[in-house]
Parts: sequence; C-alpha cells; structure tokens
Amino acid sequence: VTTTAWAAAGAGAFGMLVLALLVRWRTRRSLVRRLSSVGARLDGGQAGGGGSLDDAITRLERAAEVSGEQSYELRARVGRLALALDVLQQGVMICDEDGEIRYRNAPAEAFTGGRHGEAIAHQATSEALSTALAGQPVSRGVDLFGPPRRNLRLSAFPLHDEHRTIGAVVVVEDISEGRRLEAVRRDFVANVSHELKTPVGALALLAETLADEEDQAVTQRLSRRMQIEAARVGRIIEDLLDLSRLEAEESPVREPVTLHLIVAEAVEEVRPSAEQRSIELHVASISGRLQVLGDRRQLVSAVFNLLENAVKYSERGASIEIECETNGREVAVSVCDHGIGVPTTDLERIFERFYRVDRSRGRDTGGTGLGLAIVRHVATNHGGRIDVDSREGEGSTFTLRLPAPGGLVALPPTG
Ligand SMILES: Nc1ncnc2c1ncn2[C@@H]1O[C@H](COP(=O)(O)OP(=O)(O)O)[C@@H](O)[C@H]1O
Ligand SMILES: [Mg+2]
Repeated sequence: VTTTAWAAAGAGAFGMLVLALLVRWRTRRSLVRRLSSVGARLDGGQAGGGGSLDDAITRLERAAEVSGEQSYELRARVGRLALALDVLQQGVMICDEDGEIRYRNAPAEAFTGGRHGEAIAHQATSEALSTALAGQPVSRGVDLFGPPRRNLRLSAFPLHDEHRTIGAVVVVEDISEGRRLEAVRRDFVANVSHELKTPVGALALLAETLADEEDQAVTQRLSRRMQIEAARVGRIIEDLLDLSRLEAEESPVREPVTLHLIVAEAVEEVRPSAEQRSIELHVASISGRLQVLGDRRQLVSAVFNLLENAVKYSERGASIEIECETNGREVAVSVCDHGIGVPTTDLERIFERFYRVDRSRGRDTGGTGLGLAIVRHVATNHGGRIDVDSREGEGSTFTLRLPAPGGLVALPPTG
C-alpha cells in the first residue's frame, strides 16, 4: 500500500511539475512575442513571430536607443523653431483641430493678458483662428484704443496635412508706427499746400489789382505787399529745404565748434529785428573753452530760431537773456524771454511742423511754424534735445542741450 501510494504521489507531483513548466514555457513564449512586437512597433519594422527572449530584448534595446535619438532630435527641432519664432516681432499662435491653443511665441503673450485692449486682441485672434479652422483664411485690422493706441493686423491660415485640417495659425503684427508715419506724411503734404496757398493766392490777387491800377501811390503799396507775400513764400520754402536737408543728412559734419562763436553769429543775425523792436539782447559771458562737436551751420540756425522766437513773442522794449553752461556731461544754451509765453496745453505740440499757438497771429508775425521743428531736428541730429519751460503771460526759456565733447564718443543714429 505504502509503495503504491508513494508511486501515485510521485506521478502526481511529476504531472504538476510538467504542467507548471508547460505554463511557464507558454507564458515565456507569449512574453517573447509581446516584447518583439513592442520592439517592432518602436523601430517601425515587421513583427517577427519567433526568436529567443535574448533576441527580443536586443531588438527592444536597439529600438529604444533609436527612438531616444529621434525624440531628442525632435525636441531640438521644436526648441529651435520656438526660439526662432520668439525672435520675430509678430505674434504667432497655433491651435489644434479643436481650436485649443497649442503654441504662442513670446510677442503673442502680450495679446493674451487681461487688460482691455489685450482682451479685444485676444477675442479677435480667437475668432480669426476659428474662421481659419473652418477653412477660410483671414486678413483683418484691429484697432486698440489704448492708451497707447495701437493698430494690429491679423492674418490667419488653416493648416492642412495631406488628409485633413490639423490646426490653424494666426500672425499678429503691430502696424501702429507705419500708420502714424503715413498720417504724419499726409498731414505734412496737406499743411504745406495750405501754407503756400494763402500767400500765392494773395500774390495773384495783388498782381491782378496792380494791372488795372494807375495811381502811383497805390501801385507802390501793392508792390510792397507783393514783396511781403513773396518773401513769405520764400521763407516757407527755405525752411522746408532746411528741414529736408536735416533729415537727409546721414552723417552730419562733426567738428569741434566753440559755443560763444555760435551764439555770437546767431545774435548778429537776429540783431536787426531785435533793434527794430527796441529789444535788448543780454549774452552772459561765455567761457571761450566751451565746445561741442557738430555742424556749425546747423547749430547757428537752431540758436537763431530760438532767438527769433524770443524777439517775435516779446513786447517792444523787452529784454532777452542768453546763457551757456555745462555740467561736464552736457552743454546747455538757454534763451530766456519775458514775452507772451506758451499755454501749457500747447507746450507739447509747438515742436511739430507748422504748429502755431495762434494761427492768425502767426500770419502777422510772419512765422512759418517750422522754426522749432528745425531746432528739435538739429538737437536730435547732435545727440541732444530741446527743453522748454514757459508760463503764459510771463515768458519762456528754451534750452538746447548737447552732449559735451568728452561724452560724445558714440552718437546715436540721426533720425
Ligand atoms: N519764445 C516764445 N514765446 C512764446 N511762444 C513761442 C515762443 N517760441 C515759440 N512759440 C510758439 O510756438 C510756435 C511754433 O514756433 P516756431 O516753430 O518757431 O514757428 P513760428 O514760425 O510761428 O515762430 C509759435 O507759433 C508760437 O506760438
Ligand atoms: Mg519761429
């Protein structure tokens, strides 16, 4: 009994062992099959049915290595693209096929904030992206009322692969500066035409009257009037030429010029009109050593324009003080009058071309409205600036500041 029992037990145990081995072998087979199928999927090859566990693991290792390299290369490519897009001035946003934003470059971040103008831009870009997703390219302008006021141009396009639309891209461009320059140019042409129209019209009328006039005294008066109008046209043209020369000058002359000579020359030029109105010019004694680097003719014309205004906008018998000083970094020439002054609301605008506080009076004083525009241009051409301090009814001080020669190594580009 015992022997038979032992034999039966032995056979049972053996059976179990065989069964366990069989199960293990099948599990292993299926494992190998699964491993090689993963490997095949990774390296894009054919799934091989057979092979040992070793083969399958080797294949898997090779595939992992290749796919690691590929994903590194892919990440590098995406990174390069993103960096390149960040350099652009335009904002770029890309959405997927569901309209979800998947990418925006650094400039585009500016359009997604919470401020009012940005909210409008955000809304407009979202709309452009959905229209593009529907297959319709978009090109439209968006005006943000600021401040600062901005004009944007949006262009959106659908992104198609071979089979379907996989997303859309929108490009946002800030065209404010271009718009502003366009408006400045338009205004300028309109202003020039308007300014010339008045004296030229007067000339035509005077000439017509002169033709039928026989009284000697009247003809003389008419011809004097004609000379005045012709001189006015001449002054406008002269100032316009000065301005365009200032703008065209790409590398202005840079020579050391002595400040007191510039001031003396400008004072001599303005003296006749000052004397005519009994206006005294007081020039504070200027150190002969004060120098600036620049174009003598331009600098004289800037100081002359300041002096001419001081004389023109002062009462008869008033006085004007001219001073020069330096703090080592810059040199300042100031022209101080006790005339009518400039209302605070006009202070910012008097440097614009043709801007006059009182247009009708501008005609009487014979001004072209270009003098201060010329002064500002000369100042920026020399890397300096023009400041004004003025009180209506009390007087004005205009100060032309220029870099002192020591600090004048690198000049900003003229513009
Ligand atoms: N010293 C000043 N005092 C008062 N107003 C001034 C003075 N300088 C300039 N302005 C104002 O600024 C305007 C622009 O000056 P400017 O460009 O020289 O033109 P304008 O030919 O009229 O003198 C003038 O029309 C005047 O209204
Ligand atoms: Mg003037």
